[in-house]
Amino acid sequence: MRLGQSAFSGASAAESEVLMNSSKLRVGILGASGYAGGELLRLLLGHQSVEVVLAASPSGEGRPIAEHHPALRGLTKLPLSPVPQTVADWPELDCLFLCLPHGASRDLVPKLPLGPKIIDLGGDFRLTDAESFAKYYGTQPADRDWQKRFVYGLPETTGAGAVSTAQFVANPGCFATTVILALAPLVRSALIDDRVIVDAKTGSTGSGAKPSATTQHATRVNSMYAYKSFSHQHLPEIRQALAQLSPGWGEGLVFQAHSTPLVRGIFASIYCQLKPSVGAATVAAAFKSAYAESAFIRLVDGSPNVNWSRGSNFVDIGWVCEGRELSVFAALDNLGKGAAGQAVQNMNLMFSLPETTGLWQAGGVP
Ligand SMILES: NC(=O)c1ccc[n+]([C@@H]2O[C@H](COP(=O)([O-])OP(=O)(O)OC[C@H]3O[C@@H](n4cnc5c(N)ncnc54)[C@H](OP(=O)(O)O)[C@@H]3O)[C@@H](O)[C@H]2O)c1
Repeated sequence: MRLGQSAFSGASAAESEVLMNSSKLRVGILGASGYAGGELLRLLLGHQSVEVVLAASPSGEGRPIAEHHPALRGLTKLPLSPVPQTVADWPELDCLFLCLPHGASRDLVPKLPLGPKIIDLGGDFRLTDAESFAKYYGTQPADRDWQKRFVYGLPETTGAGAVSTAQFVANPGCFATTVILALAPLVRSALIDDRVIVDAKTGSTGSGAKPSATTQHATRVNSMYAYKSFSHQHLPEIRQALAQLSPGWGEGLVFQAHSTPLVRGIFASIYCQLKPSVGAATVAAAFKSAYAESAFIRLVDGSPNVNWSRGSNFVDIGWVCEGRELSVFAALDNLGKGAAGQAVQNMNLMFSLPETTGLWQAGGVP
């Protein structure tokens, strides 16, 4: 029996050992023609413990995946398949990644054959509060019983243990990952007031492969603009995650997203006020202690740079204090730690593989 066939259970150590010794994980990707799906393919085709057996999307007609992602030419003969329509059409899988538009996973997951572990890169199962989901996503939330089966997959705050025993993982959003990781040590240790201003910027791949009036190249290059003021869908996700570290925290958090003329990358400047008597040494100690065991978080002096993490699973976090004023800066690759890299990190944990397998590489700079 493959690991994935024991629905709702984690891998036992014995199962994992058998798996690692005898066979590779059989993995599928839905939404493989898109940006997140393409980045997952890039990472998984180089992953020593994985065999990608399904790459599918609605436009899949069986032609080579390299026709959709030319950078993968020579690395795989896998076709881009149509999405399987009946249970019998599904290949045997240990793990299935969903890289679909909002709402598609909500409708699909309950119909999938039980067995494979599922990692959803979209937002459909991230929010525990149904009203909040409806308000910020503008669509019906997922069935609550299904939502409860999903573990929020940010190992650095959720805990690697929770992810490693999950059958279903809701992979965090890209902005949400950036902001939660930048604030978690400060919130957990009660070092800052609840009033926090987040000024976050993203590159164009954050909007997916299909161009629209506001996301196409001509609109975004040489330009910068704010969008979704007070209404970005990652705001409730950030509040939810931080309130789990410190109950009630987050109502005073303002989040503003901006489009910048980058292709990949998120950069957040976060303005906080330290509680009286908290100084720079306490802030530094909180970050160092929180992330001492976190392979993908790098603490830097002052400001990080999106170039340092581009193409990698690293998050770079720096900060500057002046009296009670604290500015925290965080940078990551929206397709890396913000999406596909984080999904692979979660898969590694779910199958008892070393967390860094297939991810231990620097980005390409410049
Ligand atoms: N881009 C990022 O930086 C990023 C970061 C974190 C999370 N995410 C999340 O990841 C998901 C995918 O994002 P993306 O940027 O990769 O989008 P994308 O480039 O637009 O790709 C979307 C993919 O979904 C497929 N698709 C469309 N409608 C579908 C349906 N009804 N059923 C099944 N497949 C369908 C598309 O296939 P066709 O090409 O055949 O239409 C395509 O393969 C989204 O939920 C997004 O929020 C993205």
